[in-house]
Amino acid sequence: MIEFRGVTKRFPGGTLAVDELDLVAEQGRITVFVGPSGCGKTTSLRMINRMVEPTSGELRVDGQDVLAADPADLRRGIGYVIQQAGLFPHRTVVDNIATVPMLLGRGRKAARDRAMELMETVGLDTSMARRYPAQLSGGQQQRVGVARALAADPPVLLMDEPFSAVDPVVRESLQDELLRLQSEIGKTIVFVTHDIDEAVKLGDKVAVFRVGGKLAQYDEPGVLLSRPVDDFVDNFVGRDRGYRGLGFLTSETILLGSLDMLSMGDPRPDDGWALVLDGTGRPLGWVADGDGPVTEDTIVPGGSLYTVGSGSLRGALDAALSSPSGQGVAVDADGRVAGSITADAVLAALPAARDDSAA
Ligand SMILES: Nc1ncnc2c1ncn2[C@@H]1O[C@H](COP(=O)(O)OP(=O)(O)OP(=O)(O)O)[C@@H](O)[C@H]1O
Ligand SMILES: [Mg+2]
Repeated sequence: MIEFRGVTKRFPGGTLAVDELDLVAEQGRITVFVGPSGCGKTTSLRMINRMVEPTSGELRVDGQDVLAADPADLRRGIGYVIQQAGLFPHRTVVDNIATVPMLLGRGRKAARDRAMELMETVGLDTSMARRYPAQLSGGQQQRVGVARALAADPPVLLMDEPFSAVDPVVRESLQDELLRLQSEIGKTIVFVTHDIDEAVKLGDKVAVFRVGGKLAQYDEPGVLLSRPVDDFVDNFVGRDRGYRGLGFLTSETILLGSLDMLSMGDPRPDDGWALVLDGTGRPLGWVADGDGPVTEDTIVPGGSLYTVGSGSLRGALDAALSSPSGQGVAVDADGRVAGSITADAVLAALPAARDDSAA
């Protein structure tokens, strides 16, 4: 757990970068700092590992006063990942990752073995171990940066805009990987970004800062989207927040309808659409009315699928809206068709889901 109590940073020259910050980053969770350029995100982050010294206030990491700690000891327990990964250009990938364990006194062989394991953990092919950073793509370099930060197995991980230098597709896959990784490693992560979409996707809790180093709101993403505290946060959260907020609502009670279902080779429907299933009850796509049997060529790709129990209302609505037939497809946890879903059914489930999330 990381606790900021009235933490202020004023730089020589007078800039008030962080103003009386009170915030607790919970153990084993991802806390995101988001806000416009210059609002004090990086400064707040760097006070955690004492790369920046607070001017006043108290800052504790797992109960220990940061200002009383030996900086080298402190940093050993805190991994740090920055934009462009900050790799050593003249060291190979494996040696970049092994640097910290070697500094901690592990033998070269043990440190390299561990580095190879970590490459797999972060989704890097170990055949790249002997390459230099310049011989990797931006996304691969970021993965090396994450592996290096994890090498000493620190309980805390600080990440400063780690994914902002890569294209949107790679960025999304790095975000998904981080969430998958976090579900296994359960570190206390503080993640800085200026991208609100990244913040609400990754954060268990999101801190929105305004320029002047003031914390504007600190809440779970669903609350941020549904109840911004003021106009600044409302504007910062941006357009479509009502729709995006559906991503944080779940429902046990969306009423599923029935579906016309066919298998490959069956006659096509006389009228309207039917869903085509494979031999295991999983959806292959839709077929429209017409003559002749259902073949590969007559199948139209389906829309997104809604997984009963785990899917969000946003996923449910998207399933309904993206289906060529206007009927979304709900599946069970094994991917077998459970029923149809309409936009009306999703909207009907909304009030109860809202009440549940407010409770
Ligand atoms: N070493 C420094 N000396 C003086 N002023 C600084 C120093 N570092 C940061 N600042 C100032 O403190 C304020 C906060 O900077 P900080 O880097 O924390 O912002 P940020 O939210 O991370 O911005 P960005 O999104 O652009 O990275 C800015 O006004 C910045 O100019
Ligand atoms: Mg910054």
